[in-house]
Amino acid sequence: MRRFGWLRSRPGAAPHRLFPELPGRVPPEQQRLFRDNLSNSQAALRRYTELLEMVSKGGGEKAILRHTQRNKKLFVRERLKLLLDDESFLELSPLAGLDMPYGDVPAAGCFTGIGKICGIWCMVAALDATVKGGTMYPIGVKKQLRAQEIAMQNRLVTVCLVDSGGAFLPLQSEIFPDKSHGGRVFYNQAIMSAMGVPQLAVVCGSCVAGGAYIPTMSEETSIVDKIGTLFLAGPPLVKAATGEYVSAEDLGGAKLHSEVSGCCDHFASSEKEAYEYIRNVISTLNYDPLPEKAMEYDSPLYSSDELLGLAPQDYSCSLPVKLILSRLMDGSRFQEFKANYGTTLVTGFGHVEGHLVGIVANNGELSHDASLKGSHFVQLCSQRSIPILFFQNTAPHTAVPTSISQAEAHSNQLKAQASMMAAVACAAVPKITIVIGGCYGSESYAMCGRSFSPNFLFLWPNARVGLVDSRHFSTVPQAEDNDCTRDESELKHLKEKLEEESSAFYSSARLWDDGIILPQDTRKVIAQCLEITEQQKYQIISPRLYPIIRM
Ligand code: COA
Repeated sequence: MRRFGWLRSRPGAAPHRLFPELPGRVPPEQQRLFRDNLSNSQAALRRYTELLEMVSKGGGEKAILRHTQRNKKLFVRERLKLLLDDESFLELSPLAGLDMPYGDVPAAGCFTGIGKICGIWCMVAALDATVKGGTMYPIGVKKQLRAQEIAMQNRLVTVCLVDSGGAFLPLQSEIFPDKSHGGRVFYNQAIMSAMGVPQLAVVCGSCVAGGAYIPTMSEETSIVDKIGTLFLAGPPLVKAATGEYVSAEDLGGAKLHSEVSGCCDHFASSEKEAYEYIRNVISTLNYDPLPEKAMEYDSPLYSSDELLGLAPQDYSCSLPVKLILSRLMDGSRFQEFKANYGTTLVTGFGHVEGHLVGIVANNGELSHDASLKGSHFVQLCSQRSIPILFFQNTAPHTAVPTSISQAEAHSNQLKAQASMMAAVACAAVPKITIVIGGCYGSESYAMCGRSFSPNFLFLWPNARVGLVDSRHFSTVPQAEDNDCTRDESELKHLKEKLEEESSAFYSSARLWDDGIILPQDTRKVIAQCLEITEQQKYQIISPRLYPIIRM
């Protein structure tokens, strides 16, 4: 099947069609493994769908009714429909905040994602007042900071829809005092503005205390009449301090802030008008639009639905990674690099919806040779300014050496992995990591895990994230009294804990990634991310190094 899409090659040329086609048929001897993986993926998918359905209701039906009927505000997803061009929205970490020590906080109380406004990819962060009045929990602060980090790394205009009661007070010690707590959001706003990454805001609800600084530090802000209010302390506190009753509207409503204080720049008589204003502001940014989608690209030759059977339920159930690549690359074509050397890592070039990419994919343990090959290839991509896609399925544990020569081999492997880590860390190109199986131990760093700052990191629902694999964990550190019964129960307890903490859902709830994506959507998500990272090439960047300061 052939589709038309975004294109980047020289006019008239289609060099990717010269790359060899990857084999994609699952060999008969691996059909059983394929079926086992498939049923594991289907179970993970059901769980994913259930959780997504749950978080789509925000703080629940009662809270939505209070929000929409009593407070006459739009639900966060309706707001986005008015703000964005279309449905091409890449939502980030929708499952963040579930099953926290302090309870469930659906979507961390803060909806984030990247969507197009006037043809430009923008980061959007929208606080959801149906979740405890839009107050910021520790996980919500983390989510906002991650959105800002992505915006900085990819130079994305940021639009914040503020509807928040400020800090969630019972957890103030986990939100307020430290460097990566709430205040960092405001610090980042100034730094981003100075970098030439515009900040825009809509006050579409309460902006109390900390929440009040987001719009005030933004470059342009709109406030919605009778809905938006902005103050450091609300009417109850004024009453307690002075005995005087003042309405929220008089204390910090739209009229006051657009006519008297100057905290907001545009008085909007409705939410719709406020989002239209922001869309108009974006068209004043003087950005060149992304080039028109012009040339055609080929779809993969094999069905993406089969990725569910290729997604390993366990490291030992991994099938050759080229079967996965054959379902992700344009035309299933791939120009392999060092095909016969260090074969437990597959490296090479391909295209995703017309974008040229370098691929680094685990195909077994990251051996000495595989790591050297990885370092070499990553440097090639960096030299040629080609974005790198890491398909991570790292090995869960390293065997304990049983001889001097084996210990020596391990040291050499360690040295080669360290070189690959350095090459990956310093590669000055966009990096996108997809965890297709295991994300284990130190090998995960060389494969551009979270601590190596990939531009985006997504998990498949079957993914496992941990220092060790609980299923292969057979001992606990020896207790002094050597009581075997205790050892056994401790081991059981430890295994259960590790098992629970290794699931993709546990990881995503804690924002160790940018979200879980379905294997069959991977191509689309990668193409969106590549377009997003590429957009900055078309921005006019002024040499100023100071933020816009509200006067
Ligand atoms: N910390 C903890 N919980 C808070 C909170 C805060 N700062 N602000 C609101 N909540 C909780 C409420 O207790 C309520 O919880 P419940 O649903 O379990 O009863 C829920 O959030 C919704 O609040 P409610 O007041 O019923 O909704 P509302 O739409 O009428 O008003 C606010 C929302 C944000 C305007 C209002 O709650 C408010 O002014 N809160 C205080 C804000 C404040 O003083 N912040 C200072 C932070 S430093």
